Amino acid sequence: MAAKLLKNGRLVAIPTETVYGLAANALDAKAVLAIYEAKQRPFFDPLIIHVASLEKAEEYAHFHDPRLLKLAKAFWPGPLTILLPKKDTVPDIVSSGLPQVAVRVPDHELTLELLQTVGLPLAAPSANPFGYVSPTEPQHVDKQLGSKVDYILDGGKCTVGIESTIVGIEDDSLCLYRLGGLAIEEIEKVAGKLAMRLNQSSDPKAPGQLKNHYAPLTPLEIGDIEQLVKKYQGKRIAVIGFGQMPQLEGVQQCFNLSQTSDLKEAALNLFSLLREADDCGADVIITQFVPNASLGLAINDRLKRAEAKRQ
Ligand code: TXA
Ligand code: MG
Repeated sequence: MAAKLLKNGRLVAIPTETVYGLAANALDAKAVLAIYEAKQRPFFDPLIIHVASLEKAEEYAHFHDPRLLKLAKAFWPGPLTILLPKKDTVPDIVSSGLPQVAVRVPDHELTLELLQTVGLPLAAPSANPFGYVSPTEPQHVDKQLGSKVDYILDGGKCTVGIESTIVGIEDDSLCLYRLGGLAIEEIEKVAGKLAMRLNQSSDPKAPGQLKNHYAPLTPLEIGDIEQLVKKYQGKRIAVIGFGQMPQLEGVQQCFNLSQTSDLKEAALNLFSLLREADDCGADVIITQFVPNASLGLAINDRLKRAEAKRQ
């Protein structure tokens, strides 16, 4: 069913270990255009192509640097996206006209099976309206994009919960472009030091790192939770805590990313709790940073973006 729809240029939401993707045949420029339309995503923001294996990836991109090949071998299938010089087999719309294309092999049984059946690369951004929180369950996709996708492949809850880490090469340095589900130290163990290229700008020339990405509609503030609860006294407050939480008075809803302070669990819960907090009728969402190491770096990055005001 999903394979047939994709071959016919239709949109299918696919499960991955990180978040659900909104997929189309990457070789069909018209189908790819439909992704941008469904998401209301600007064309300057390029898409990741998903393939079944490293061998397949080599049909669409050049592994021009041995470090990138090493990383692909070590972490695929998995939450790592690699920027590589694009081959002409991939339409320009996929990479927004950039010479490099983002590629990954997702670690989800159903989607790997689907990729093998269709035999096509699938272009897929996260399956949420542009700028909103990414979906980690099929219900999240259905709620917001249900009318715009032709099929949602139900693969249950995502097991990582936060988008893939993005790396590439610039001036001969191995660079990190997006913090994500694969921690920096894991990458450095395999391929050496990473240079940071995390662009906080909302400049369209810096694709995909828009400041107010992953943002709920309800205003969100990060800080000391007890102090913020005092600041917003009299308002309807939703709290998203981490680890042991103090007793809080006058709070409408209290969520916890991980009661045992486990960063993996926190990453897994982050987007679904942001959605629940957004939907619970609160005037404000109050939250705190998690420890700024390992997966905590990616979690704090998403929290900062969720806090940034929508323009
Ligand atoms: O985990 C993930 O990566 C998920 C799942 C579905 O695979 N996908 C995802 O896609 O997060 P999306 O489109 O929401 O984010 C892709 C990011 C964007 O920030 C985009 O700008 C960047 O990758 N990107 C894609 N192609 C690029 C390119 N050629 N050069 C620079 N950045 C690129
Ligand atoms: Mg996204």
